[in-house]
Amino acid sequence: MRGLVAVGCLAALLAVNVWAGEQASKGNATNGQAIYARNCLPCHGAALDGHGPNAAGLVRPPANFLDKRSRKKTDFELEITIKQGQLYTDMHRWDDTLSDAQIRDVVAYIRATAPHLID
Ligand code: HEC
Repeated sequence: MRGLVAVGCLAALLAVNVWAGEQASKGNATNGQAIYARNCLPCHGAALDGHGPNAAGLVRPPANFLDKRSRKKTDFELEITIKQGQLYTDMHRWDDTLSDAQIRDVVAYIRATAPHLID
């Protein structure tokens, strides 16, 4: 009997871990769209092509997420740039305004339109 209870507990723990793992790795693209529209669209554009209304005149043009250069980056690489920003560009860091979950959501939204390209 004790053994059965232990097995049951282990199974429940495992299920929770798998669930948490999925939550951690996958963002919600619908939430991400709203976050993108508010924060990223002015530079990166509604079409994700880097031609947002505020893009003109920046020292370095905003990334075009549809471009191969961007699509070849992993989700993790995009997340790091969003969190920490990109030196010497107008892309400032977002980890002080957006939560990790919100950043994953916005990456899910970008990837829904511009999927990761594997060589
Ligand atoms: C003020 C304009 C501006 C805003 C607002 C902005 N970005 Fe950027 N972003 C840039 C610029 C400029 C770059 C650098 C492009 C380069 O290095 O070629 C960049 C680069 C990036 C990159 C790296 C992409 C790549 O392929 O190298 C990601 C990812 C990114 N931005 C995501 C976001 C997200 C998500 C938001 C909103 C939360 C956002 N950006 C808001 C201007 C902006």
